[in-house]
Amino acid sequence: MATAAEHYEHHLGPIYVWMAGGSDAALQAGSAEVEALNLPVTDGAVVLDLGAGFGMHSIPLARRGARVIAIDSSIELLRTLTELRGDLPVQAVNDDLLAFQTHITEAPSAIFCMGDTITHLPGLGAVETLIERASAALPPGGMFIVSFRDYSVPLIGEQRFIPVRNDESRILICFLEYEAEAVLVHDILHERTSDGWQTRVSHYRKLRLLPEYLITSLHSKGFNVRREVGMRGMVRLVAQSV
Ligand SMILES: C[S@@+](CC[C@H](N)C(=O)[O-])C[C@H]1O[C@@H](n2cnc3c(N)ncnc32)[C@H](O)[C@@H]1O
Repeated sequence: MATAAEHYEHHLGPIYVWMAGGSDAALQAGSAEVEALNLPVTDGAVVLDLGAGFGMHSIPLARRGARVIAIDSSIELLRTLTELRGDLPVQAVNDDLLAFQTHITEAPSAIFCMGDTITHLPGLGAVETLIERASAALPPGGMFIVSFRDYSVPLIGEQRFIPVRNDESRILICFLEYEAEAVLVHDILHERTSDGWQTRVSHYRKLRLLPEYLITSLHSKGFNVRREVGMRGMVRLVAQSV
């Protein structure tokens, strides 16, 4: 089994923008999500995007006036972010998201951790550490926004095969294998090459996080929390530091 970082480096990174429907559509979707949140982003406010990928939220946030620090462990995705950001103030940082404090010199007004990134953390201890560090870094009124998939109810039988995207040269199917506290995500990729179709498979582990667990943990660390439905049916928690 690959680590999340290895899975992105060797398997998903090179096709991630394609998987997300292309950069224009993905940035439009990220922009719609940022608009829906309707955060009061003052010009020049520092916003962190943890597990930023190619900038689906970082770039729309910068367009709204934020100075964004985009942290990701994938060099490949940060390279794409750097191409897409143009002159926008988005700083690409290649590091583990739990180390975000080492990359800020002033308090952020918001911390984003979107698109199921939090489930990539190695365990509940790391989730707790992230929430503690976000709570310590944000000033009163600061926002911590997390979106993730609720894997608490296992899919069964053929429901576990999820077609992600396909076109004339690629087919990506995701297969989910459930463990007690995690789900093994198998990404099955078929690609048309000059030698015909080739198949590559890689899998990694994601946490099965209960929304109620995260909400309780956020409350205990000094956040007020609102639960919403996010992009593609994800759970979105909008937490405000009190
Ligand atoms: C599912 S993608 C979401 C990307 C983006 N936030 C979005 O909404 O499209 C998860 C991202 O988190 C990154 N990632 C996973 N674990 C990480 C970690 N511990 N530190 C930094 N980045 C991480 C991956 O490289 C990937 O870009």
